[in-house]
Amino acid sequence: MALRKIRQLGDEVLSKKCREVREMTPRIRELIEDMKETMYEANGVGLAAPQVGVLRRVVVIDVGEGPIVLINPRILEQSGERTEDEGCLSLPGKAGQVTRPAYVKVEACNENMEKVILEGEELLARAFCHEIDHLDGHMYVEKVEGGLHDVVYEEEEEA
Ligand code: NI
Repeated sequence: MALRKIRQLGDEVLSKKCREVREMTPRIRELIEDMKETMYEANGVGLAAPQVGVLRRVVVIDVGEGPIVLINPRILEQSGERTEDEGCLSLPGKAGQVTRPAYVKVEACNENMEKVILEGEELLARAFCHEIDHLDGHMYVEKVEGGLHDVVYEEEEEA
C-alpha cells in the first residue's frame, strides 16, 4: 500500500468523467487499498479515484462506521433535503453550505464485484452524492450556497 497524491481544485483530472470498472484486477485492488490509506491519512470521510488522478468509477467512504468501497455506484432513490457545510480533500481548509438529499439509496459493486444496495442518511447520504459527483467531474463548490469559508478546527478553538 502507498499514499497517493491528492489532486487539488484546478487540476483538470477533477473535471473529467470516469470510466466504469468492468472487472477486478490487481491494479484496481491496489488503487482501492491506496485510496483508503490516503483518505485515512488525510482525515477525510470519502475519496474518489479522480482525486488521486485515476479516471475510474471507484469511491471509498468512511463516516466513522468502517470503510465502504463503491465501484460503479449509481443513485437509485433519494428523498428529503439537508443543507450543511461540506468540504473536500481537493480543497483543504475550506467548506461551504450545500443542499443534498437526506436519504439516498445506492447500487454499486463491492470489492468482489458483487452487486450491493446501500442506504445512507445524513452524512452518509451526503458522502454518496459528493463522491459520485466526483466520478462525473463535479466538485461541491459548483453547488455551494453563499460562498466558501475557512474551516476552523476544534483544536484551534480550544487553544
Ligand atoms: Ni471531494
